[in-house]
Formats: sequence, structure tokens, C-alpha cells
Amino acid sequence: MTRVIKTTVAMQKGGSGKSTLSRHGSVIMPRTALLDLDPQGTTLRWLERRQQNGDFVPSAIRTTFTRAKEALEIVDSAHAEIDHLIIDTPPEHDDQRTIRFAVQAADFVVLPCKPTPDDLEVLHETLKLVREYGKPYGIVLTMVRQNSRSLKSAKELVARMCAEFGNGELCPHTIGNRTDFVESVFFAKAVTEFAPTSVAAAEIRAVWDWIFERSVAAAKEKDGAVEHG
Ligand SMILES: Nc1ncnc2c1ncn2[C@@H]1O[C@H](COP(=O)(O)OP(=O)(O)OP(=O)(O)O)[C@@H](O)[C@H]1O
Ligand SMILES: [Mg+2]
Repeated sequence: MTRVIKTTVAMQKGGSGKSTLSRHGSVIMPRTALLDLDPQGTTLRWLERRQQNGDFVPSAIRTTFTRAKEALEIVDSAHAEIDHLIIDTPPEHDDQRTIRFAVQAADFVVLPCKPTPDDLEVLHETLKLVREYGKPYGIVLTMVRQNSRSLKSAKELVARMCAEFGNGELCPHTIGNRTDFVESVFFAKAVTEFAPTSVAAAEIRAVWDWIFERSVAAAKEKDGAVEHG
């Protein structure tokens, strides 16, 4: 592609694994930049610690809604160096302007969701928002316990939501509730660096391969529609 493909990570529920997913994508995927639109700024500190440790630091911009458009222009102009942009978003409810901006800018939207009734309820709300912009999306179940009843129920509910909203699907790979994800943060590392042969590392790689493939397909379809439209 001759432009930067954009994947937005969005979910209105707090603590659903958006930043964990975004940070990992920026380290695992080649030629990938990170746009952090969350005013909390924790990812910036994570990046600073990586720099101090001498670890790979992905291209990253941290900004807020007021300068988000400018940040996107900077990223677009860097398409000779960057193929893919991951946009991390805050957990907004009433004031949804940042999440709306990020969804609108996206080729593909990823919604990480924990398999709990509360999280699934907010997932449904966030999908309504995504539908307003007609964006293709993927749902990634995070912090799951394999073979649990909660995972089975969550998969059924998500399948129903995908049928209701259309244009999206459940990622065939899930991310487990694993201490490697928490412990690696203490060292400002991705789990693929902290525990390269772990299940956590295999899971996050599989999830990102899937997200990237879907993002490329969505971008191609969008550009094709523009050319022929
Ligand atoms: N797969 C996982 N297993 C265990 N813990 C996890 C996993 N993914 C994330 N966590 C932990 O859960 C917490 C919330 O994750 P994270 O910050 O990625 O969520 P978030 O959606 O970005 O939150 P916010 O809405 O506040 O921005 C963090 O402490 C993180 O380390
Ligand atoms: Mg976050």
C-alpha cells in the first residue's frame, strides 16, 4: 500500500486491555507507529523506560483530541517509513469525541473485551458507535480463562452482536488472563521480549497477525471503493 493503514483500538469500558494490545502491536509488527490518544500518558512513560533500557522504541506520538488531526497528518506524511498506525484510545463514555475521531480515522477497528457481563454490555454500546461510521471491526476476547463457562457465554454473545451489527467478526484467537502480561510491564517489555516462548507471547502474535491481515484487507477494500465510487 502507498499509504499508512490505520487500526484503531477502541472500547468504552476501562481496563479492557486496549493499551496492552496497542503497545504490543507497536513492538511486534514491523514498520508500525503508535498514536496514543489517551490523556493518562502511561504509554509515554512505558516508551521512555524502554528508551532508558536500550530496548527498541517504536515511532510514537502522544497527543489529545485537540491536536489529533495534526498528528494524523504527520503520520500520513511518513508513509515512506511507516506502513501501519495503531491508535490507542481512552475509555470515554459521555464525552466520546476522541473515540469518535479515532474510529472515523480507522481502516479497521479492534475492540478488546473481557468475558464479563459488564464488559459485554459496554461492547454492545461501543459497537453501536462503530456502526455509525460503517467501519469493519474485529472483537478480541482478552483476559480469558480457557475452557471456562464465561468464555463460552461471551463467544455466544459476541456472535449474536456480530450478526446484529454486521461488518465484523470475532477474532479466532483469544488472549488469556496471564501474569506475563502484568509482569512484563514492570520491565517495560512486551511479553514477546520478556517471555518469548510463553503462551502469552504466542497468543499476542497470533492476534496481531490476524488484526493486521484484516486491517490490510479493509484498507484495500476502502481504497477500491474510493477508486470505483
Ligand atoms: N491478558 C492479560 N492478562 C492479565 N492482565 C492483563 C492482560 N491484559 C492487560 N492486563 C492488565 O490489565 C490492566 C488493564 O489493561 P490496559 O491498561 O491494557 O487496559 P485499557 O483498556 O488500556 O485501560 P484504560 O481503559 O484505563 O485505558 C493492566 O494492569 C494490564 O497490565
Ligand atoms: Mg489504556
